[in-house]
Amino acid sequence: MIFEQFTAGGCQSYLVGCAESCAAALIDPEISLIDRYLALAARDGLRIRYLVDTHTHADHFSATHQLAKQLNAPVAMHRMSPAPFVTLALDDGEMLAVGKLRLQVLHTPGHTRDSMCLQVEDRVFTGDTLLIGATGRTDLPGGDPGALYESLFERLLRLEPSIQVHPAHEYKGRSPTSIGEELANNPRLKVRDRAAFIEMMCNLNLQMPTHVTEALRTNMSGGKTVAQMLTEAAAGVPFMALAELKARNDAAKGELLVLDVRERDAYEQGHIPGARLLPRGQLELRVNQDLPDPTLRIVTCCELGRVSTLATATLREMGYQRAAALDGGMQAWREAGYPVKAGADP
Ligand SMILES: [Fe+2]
Repeated sequence: MIFEQFTAGGCQSYLVGCAESCAAALIDPEISLIDRYLALAARDGLRIRYLVDTHTHADHFSATHQLAKQLNAPVAMHRMSPAPFVTLALDDGEMLAVGKLRLQVLHTPGHTRDSMCLQVEDRVFTGDTLLIGATGRTDLPGGDPGALYESLFERLLRLEPSIQVHPAHEYKGRSPTSIGEELANNPRLKVRDRAAFIEMMCNLNLQMPTHVTEALRTNMSGGKTVAQMLTEAAAGVPFMALAELKARNDAAKGELLVLDVRERDAYEQGHIPGARLLPRGQLELRVNQDLPDPTLRIVTCCELGRVSTLATATLREMGYQRAAALDGGMQAWREAGYPVKAGADP
């Protein structure tokens, strides 16, 4: 078995491959690691056949939907998953055939209703059902401490004690443990009484994960994260450095138009001398009137350089083929000590 583990923050994802057939499954992939997954699969001579999420993640952005489109491979999740892009709904007792490997599905609700663990040979991918020295939390949507108790004590922990545990989260960089070691050392598993276990899980008082709203929105719908929108926009536009724009502005040849896409009050507090105001929210409404020449050279700017990237992508899409975005925003422009003019639109 070929096995690779990936870490993004505390999120763990896994590539499991059959050396004989070169087929592989990718488990709990995270959006920022897409290029790395593809690079390592290629290095190991593997073709990714399945994209698996062990459950609906509330704390990271799943890459299964995007990779499924790129690789033309199915997204496999438990049948309780609400995500409309799941093309291979799995149920307890079924297996995924990855070449000669068999990934056995155990439905283990509790952290979420759609949580499952996957056992293959000497190891089990436990998602957020069982973590090293902890369990998944049960206070997020779909969580149920009683169900987690049954999933742990009546299913997962009955696997062979020697089976290695590979969770979807590990924040402290610890090496994998085994079912036997978790049973012996995991403080939450020492609470064997069902009512006491539920009581403990209900009183953990954990902080909400960061980006929980965005993670649930995108993971449950297959929609894009804000970072994805920005990356996609940035991939299709050129940028101009702050110093380059300043030099060209100083030369005052009038060869390019600086288009400030912030709101009026921000613009009036201070803008690049000569910049014209066209808030991004009004771009499509005013573009024909304000920018009649589609061959005009335009450099857009905003406060941080993100909204201007989106505005430039929109301009290019509309046919302004010489639109570029300032690399950085007004904040960086001011920090560089470059000239700023206050007041209304010239
Ligand atoms: Fe989770």
